[in-house]
Order: sequence, then C-alpha cells, then structure tokens
Amino acid sequence: MKVGGKHYRTIWLKADDPSVVQIIDQRKLPHEFVIVDLKTVDDVAFAIRAMLVRGAGLIGATAGYGMYIAALHAPTHDREAAMRYLVEAGEKLKATRPTAVNLEWAVNRQLLALQRAESVEEMIAFAKDTAQQIADEDAEFCRRIGEHGVSLIEAIAQRKPGEPVNILTHCNAGWLAFVDYGSATAPIYAAHDRGIPVHVWVDETRPRNQGARLTAWELGEHGVPHTVIADNVGGHLMQHGMVDLCIVGSDRTTYTGDVANKVGTYLKALAARDNNVPFYVALPSSTFDWTLRDGVREIPIEQRNNEEVKYMDGRTADGRIETVLLTPENSPAANYAFDVTPARLVTGLITERGICEANEESILRLYPEKRNKP
Ligand code: MRU
Repeated sequence: MKVGGKHYRTIWLKADDPSVVQIIDQRKLPHEFVIVDLKTVDDVAFAIRAMLVRGAGLIGATAGYGMYIAALHAPTHDREAAMRYLVEAGEKLKATRPTAVNLEWAVNRQLLALQRAESVEEMIAFAKDTAQQIADEDAEFCRRIGEHGVSLIEAIAQRKPGEPVNILTHCNAGWLAFVDYGSATAPIYAAHDRGIPVHVWVDETRPRNQGARLTAWELGEHGVPHTVIADNVGGHLMQHGMVDLCIVGSDRTTYTGDVANKVGTYLKALAARDNNVPFYVALPSSTFDWTLRDGVREIPIEQRNNEEVKYMDGRTADGRIETVLLTPENSPAANYAFDVTPARLVTGLITERGICEANEESILRLYPEKRNKP
C-alpha cells in the first residue's frame, strides 16, 4: 500500500544487504515513519513482543523471516547441530505472543521446509525461499479477500445509490497487520478503488489504540473517508442505522468458526446481532486453528503489561511525543488483549477462497484438505 505516494510492504529484505530484514516500527505511527533493521533472532523476538510489528499476518511473516535469520546464524559444522539451533530459535519466536496462531504456523512451516535440507547452505536457501513465500502468500491472500469481500459492499451500495456504505471496523486488521492490503480493510480498499462510496467508522481500540493510530493513518494515506470513534460508540451508531456492515479481522479462528480478535470485538458482535447489522470476519487460512473446537475455552488470551492501560502517549502541540498517566498512580489495571466472539454471532467469514458461514461444515467445504487432518 502507499505511504506518501510510495508503495511499501510491512516487511522486506534490505536491498543492499539481504541478511537484514527491514520493518516499519508501528509503535511510532502515526506521528513518525521509522524503518528498523532486524539482524538477529533476538531482534526479531523483540520486534514481535514489543509490537514494533503486530497483527496476525505480519507476526507470521516476521517469524518466517526470523527463521531465515536463524538459519544465517546456525552452526555451520554439522546439519544436526544447525537443526537443533533452528528448533530452539523457533521456540523463542513462538513464545513472544500467544494468541495469533500465524506465529506458530509460520515457524512450523519453516521447520518442515528445513527438514528437507541436506546441508546448512541448503537450509539458508530454503529458509529464505520459505520466508518470501509466506510473505508473498500473505499479501496475495489478502488481495483475494478484498476481491471476495467487495461483493458484500457492492450489494449494500446498490440498495442506497449515491450514499456511502458505512462500515465499522475494530483494531487494525489493515495492511499494517499483514504484509499488504490487510484482511478487514482489503474489501474496503477494493470498493474505494472501484469508485464505490465507502465511509469507515474506526474504533479507537483501547488500550494501544491500533484503530486511532494505525487504521486511521492507513485509510487516510489511501484517501478512504473515515471517522475515529471511541470504542463504546458502535452500539449507538448501529441503533440509529448508521452502520451498514461490520468487518473485523482475527488473530485465531477455530475450525468451528469461533473468532479471537482484539478485545472489544465480542461486544461489537453482540450489538450488531441486536441491531441486525451483518458482522463479518476477514481472515486468511493461516489464521485458522485446525486443532481447536471451542474458542472461548481453548484459545489462549494474551494478558499484556498493565502500563498499556494506565498510560497513553501522543504528540504535544510543539511536536514532542509524550507519555502521560491516565489513572490514579496506585490503581491496579488489567490488560486482556483479546476476546473470543462465538461463531453464532458471526454472519460470515471472508477468506482467500471465498465467503463462508462461521461453522465447521461451511469452513471445511472451503478447505476440504483439512477434513480429519490438522
Ligand atoms: O495486538 P495486536 O495489535 O497484534 O492485535 C492484532 C490485531 O491487530 C487485531 O486483533 C486484528 O483485528 C487482527 S490481526 C489481523
């Protein structure tokens, strides 16, 4: 997608030194656009844990490149020692964030590819290819999600000619959360690019404000009309007919259709159901967990540092970035980062293979190769 008119992905190999991975430091957006070099597995683990990169697809792609960096640093004297080093690196990366299943998926995909290598040189080549494939596939799958999802927006637009289709989204499931296009935003960009008038209600998404900081920024860079709202406004808007459609992303979705996404998603789904607003979840297949049946009970929910709740940062009038305390100094705070929306509240899933209902039968019809096989 475009930043200041120039095309960027969220992760790439440095042009003049392909042993270095480059990312955009998302902690600094929207006020500063800073590119960071990742040179070691520890750099990659830090970037994921501290959320320089974030969002299910990008976490997976970063882990994929992290395994390539690990291969570059693996002991060269024997293949078995190199493989042990890579398995350990994979464990280190997997431990950085628990909810987004793409992380585990990408590391496992790399380890499977690496097992086929007969020498350490081959491991490096395989790891590089696999990392690129994961990233390219992520971008392509998001593009296809856009192609499928735009039909939902088109259908609503035909019912209200001349008026914008109002779409509510939560958190950032935009191109910054993937390698390109985004999941929830891909149908929105596709509609906008086709000249269908759209307007996006952007939930601010406390405590880290990924909506206010990131979704608003990327929609603005692409020229998509949008309005940032406080997290609790969505229900009111839905009651007054001001939301035509909700589209959110997912960090992990069970094969039965339960959706883990940024905390607060569940409440939006409840409000949507109460007001007959269609509630769609956009996700690539890498975000399905083919082993879990009951999302509410089985999906691990990350609990982050409570400082994210107690403090907030932003730009002052004279351009400095400042952090301020919001709560009484000694008040305890809890920081549950995700919640699970049960499948029964989800109208449909928008995937790279098409749109399906959020239930086992419908999901497995799109992914028949997953029947009886995690
Ligand atoms: O904690 P984050 O920012 O990594 O959370 C992930 C998200 O951005 C959202 O939950 C998003 O809607 C799904 S990830 C595509």
